[in-house]
Amino acid sequence: MKLKEYKMLFMELIRYIHEGVHVIDSDGKTIIYNERMADLEKLTGKEVINKPFQDVFKDVEDSTLLKSLNTRTVIENKNQAYINKYGKEITTINTTIPIIDDNKVVAALEIAQNITQIKEMTDTILELQKDIHQPSENKNLRIKQYRFHNITGGSKAFKKTLEIAKRASKTDASVFIYGETGTGKELIAQSIHFDGIRKTRPFIAQNCAAIPDSLLEGLLFGTDKGGFTGAVDREGLFEQASGGTLLLDEINSMPYDTQAKLLRVLQEGYVRRIGGTKDIPIDVRIIASSNEPADVIINSGKIRKDLFYRLNIISINIPPLRERKDDIMPLCEKFIEKYNEKLNKDVWILSDKAKEKLLAHDYPGNIRELENIIVGAISLLDDEHVISDSFVNIHSVSEFKKNTIDYKNDVKEMGLMNIVDSIEKDIIYTLYAESGRNITKTADALKIKRQTLQHKLRKYDIR
Ligand SMILES: Nc1ncnc2c1ncn2[C@@H]1O[C@H](COP(=O)(O)OP(=O)(O)OP(=O)(O)O)[C@@H](O)[C@H]1O
Ligand SMILES: [Mg+2]
Repeated sequence: MKLKEYKMLFMELIRYIHEGVHVIDSDGKTIIYNERMADLEKLTGKEVINKPFQDVFKDVEDSTLLKSLNTRTVIENKNQAYINKYGKEITTINTTIPIIDDNKVVAALEIAQNITQIKEMTDTILELQKDIHQPSENKNLRIKQYRFHNITGGSKAFKKTLEIAKRASKTDASVFIYGETGTGKELIAQSIHFDGIRKTRPFIAQNCAAIPDSLLEGLLFGTDKGGFTGAVDREGLFEQASGGTLLLDEINSMPYDTQAKLLRVLQEGYVRRIGGTKDIPIDVRIIASSNEPADVIINSGKIRKDLFYRLNIISINIPPLRERKDDIMPLCEKFIEKYNEKLNKDVWILSDKAKEKLLAHDYPGNIRELENIIVGAISLLDDEHVISDSFVNIHSVSEFKKNTIDYKNDVKEMGLMNIVDSIEKDIIYTLYAESGRNITKTADALKIKRQTLQHKLRKYDIR
């Protein structure tokens, strides 16, 4: 490719990417300033391009671009906030790098990623958590509180787990819960709290995998004005959970650096908001959970050993459902009772064949999967009282397995189209059952035409 063509390609790239891009040359003059950047900074390309940086921007002392140019430093993932032309606060993560050729700095490049929506999401989580735990202000948002009497299961393996969990509820020690997806980690964590000594104080659960790394610390520890431009003073989950329990779900997804900070907070007993200077004493019980076993996450480096030992004072393992098949029938009874009431049905029992089918399955999605199978069956019944095996839909590639599909092996075995079909069948089956077999609602939910849905229902023999 000719240089001119490269240039064209480059300019198109800059025009269409979602990040803001700003480049200054060695004299501090702007040579590239794309529209995204202009949007973020409430300026136009015309006002900036070919002008000396100092003439356009006032806060040159704080400028990461000039700093990068003058000191040859890379400034990575720095939080920044702007107010845009509509008065809305925009949050970005910026990375600034010097371009060095032949030991000479020829330019500095800044890339800004707009994370406003993600930031708003974490803010919303904090607000919602607050509402949940100050129920007098907003009663609708109260979450269901699980306690030990809501837990079903008398199998030997599960009884052992429950025994330890009940003892844990009488103490204040940190707990580490391991269980595959859908085994009831949240249920056990809540029961430890709501049947324990801290029950009158908040229970807050945070999934560490659901929040982008750059925002998790702010969410946990709070932020302080000055942490980054535009940051607000806001308490984090540690402060919100004061006196209560904080469940750190999927702790194995917490970034390594954050784990070190968490450990420090736990050891020192106080928290410092991001960008703050004050140490705030905290009194929070920690329950951590993981859907991978402890040895696996330690050996693969997903959890720091020192943090793990601090959390694993009491260790609770929840066995998967396939290792406690005695619990399947009692759980079915419980779910039939629950959904009779919810869906206004009058189901009494499962047919023998249906029971057989349920007992033979190995439940990669554990109790959640079993619950969904029962809901699916019940919602397909009209005024029948017996769930026959034809209504028990055991998914071939269950939705719970999607994340853990061994693609290479499964594709070899089943072929791509069969896997895609079985996932499609799963989704359609679930939504169709949930809608009470309503074609219009299901087609809407799937964003496909009614005719297409009808065709697929016939194809997969979903009734
Ligand atoms: N022993 C039980 N008795 C009754 N219901 C249960 C039991 N165990 C789990 N459930 C139900 O199964 C569902 C999944 O439970 P929960 O959310 O606690 O699982 P989890 O281990 O946290 O799953 P994930 O790893 O996906 O977060 C919930 O609806 C819960 O009510
Ligand atoms: Mg969970």
